[in-house]
Amino acid sequence: MSLGIGVIGTGVMGSEHARLAAREIPGAHLAGVFDADAGRARAAAAGATVFPDPRALIASDRVGAVVIASPDGTHAELALACLEAGKPALCEKPLASTTAEALRVVEAEVASKRRSIQVGYMRRFDPGYLEMKRIKDTGGIGAPTLLHNVHRNVRAPEWFTGPMAVTNSFVHEIDVSRWLTGSEMVSARVEAGPGGDPLMITMRTDRGEIVSTEVHMNAAYGYHVHAEMVGREGTVALAPPSLVSRNKEGAGGIVYPDDWVPRFADANRRQMTEWVRAAAAGTPVGASAWDGYVASAIAEQVAAGMAGDRPTALSVPARPSLYG
Ligand SMILES: NC(=O)c1ccc[n+]([C@@H]2O[C@H](COP(=O)([O-])OP(=O)(O)OC[C@H]3O[C@@H](n4cnc5c(N)ncnc54)[C@H](O)[C@@H]3O)[C@@H](O)[C@H]2O)c1
Repeated sequence: MSLGIGVIGTGVMGSEHARLAAREIPGAHLAGVFDADAGRARAAAAGATVFPDPRALIASDRVGAVVIASPDGTHAELALACLEAGKPALCEKPLASTTAEALRVVEAEVASKRRSIQVGYMRRFDPGYLEMKRIKDTGGIGAPTLLHNVHRNVRAPEWFTGPMAVTNSFVHEIDVSRWLTGSEMVSARVEAGPGGDPLMITMRTDRGEIVSTEVHMNAAYGYHVHAEMVGREGTVALAPPSLVSRNKEGAGGIVYPDDWVPRFADANRRQMTEWVRAAAAGTPVGASAWDGYVASAIAEQVAAGMAGDRPTALSVPARPSLYG
């Protein structure tokens, strides 16, 4: 039987999730959408139901699983509502806009005794990142010593405020660095460029590895995500993320997209495919609510320590047994 997916929030990211659910995911269909802007909801619905509010979408018999892609500040309440209704949810990152809210989601999921929340850290499904991890895990570069991350956006979204470069963007590197290295982050130091952008964030792991990340919100030339891992016997890096190379006006090379939708289209498709499979068959396979909590907790601690000139010690509580 086809799984009916309901999408809450149909802006840039939610429209892509709605499109995937409607057209590209085996065993699933788009059952309906909700957006605070009814015009956006209608545009993304592609003939599916436009619900009058998010609670009606979550409660609907036609909706078997929910994608939460509304603004960060709405994620925790909606994830809690999905847990209460017993419906699997794919919640866009970050899991919540504060650590306290993220912890409420973890606690509610632990009380339900069953994992049903996946957080949209889709880089875990990107073919390049998966190959890096496979090579590192099979000893292909020896023991890791360093991970260099680059995260460049064309320009910061209009709704970006204060420390969101850390709490909304850098959370991706927190998650992917934990996943790639299998280590926990124990300290962080932040250097800010002129006007506060870019940021250079250096973390240490509990195995002594160094994780450096450039978070650049206004890099102008294109959306560019890169990673290179250095080991005792070699290095492994993402290849240039371009389907074509282009020659124009005396220069040639790879073509960068404007945003993450084309760059991570494959990752988002694989993420939703696996999520739909897990909704039918058991435990979600991507980032858990616990991973979402850890990313948000570390981001909040990094943001709080940004003004200081000493490294910030990072800490998270012990992992509940539900998360292995
Ligand atoms: N995984 C990723 O790489 C990735 C990339 C981009 C965005 N995101 C996440 O997706 C979420 C949405 O980001 P976006 O770039 O699509 O933003 P956006 O501004 O394009 O879209 C947000 C949408 O939510 C709607 N909205 C506002 N308040 C709402 C509410 N209370 N209930 C329902 N809808 C509401 C808005 O009308 C808008 O259509 C954010 O949490 C962001 O962090 C994740």
